[in-house]
Amino acid sequence: MNIYELISKRRTVRKFLPEKLSEDILKKYVSAARLAPSGANLQPLKYKIVNDEKTVSEIFECVKWAAYIAPEGNPKKGEEPTAYIAVCADTDIKKEGFEGDMGAAVMSMILLAESEGVGSCWMQAIDYKKISEILKFPENIKLLCVLALGKKAETPVFVDKTDSIKYFKDENGILNVPKRTLEEILL
Ligand SMILES: Cc1cc2nc3c(=O)[nH]c(=O)nc-3n(C[C@H](O)[C@H](O)[C@H](O)COP(=O)(O)O)c2cc1C
Repeated sequence: MNIYELISKRRTVRKFLPEKLSEDILKKYVSAARLAPSGANLQPLKYKIVNDEKTVSEIFECVKWAAYIAPEGNPKKGEEPTAYIAVCADTDIKKEGFEGDMGAAVMSMILLAESEGVGSCWMQAIDYKKISEILKFPENIKLLCVLALGKKAETPVFVDKTDSIKYFKDENGILNVPKRTLEEILL
């Protein structure tokens, strides 16, 4: 599969199989993030891998899923992610302006995971304070987002947007994600 096909096929996944992801696989994703572009090459981002059952379930309580179709989009019992990677900024390295670095790093991890059949959900509707407490982050480690991960148990699709950008489940229960057309976004 070429990169464009991979990008087209990638969708946010919110239903996962109950199969653990090894520390080595997760470290490989962080290594992909490590190699991403970084403003002034400062590389202020730090990562926490979470794949022990107890902490994974604690973090599950601190995240919100698929606002447009809540609570229908929540992973049901047994469909929860099996790992998270918390993406953080080290404010000892840089004080502010992490969005660009975060986007490049997170997307690198998402695409690498996708290429291996591992689904992901980039999450920022999260309880930053609580997650930082659970993960015992020191003062200089600012949580930016979490990436929920697991083997895929659903295959959402994209459709060209007609009237609304709100994703929806179709009559077969498949998540459809409207994307603005090329005509709409080209200036
Ligand atoms: C910055 C950002 C924050 C997001 N936060 C959440 C979130 O907290 N919960 C969630 O279920 N999805 C979250 N998403 C996933 C988006 O809902 C999803 O990317 C969007 O609906 C488009 O679907 P697609 O990723 O399948 O193309 C987030 C995505 C981005 C880029």
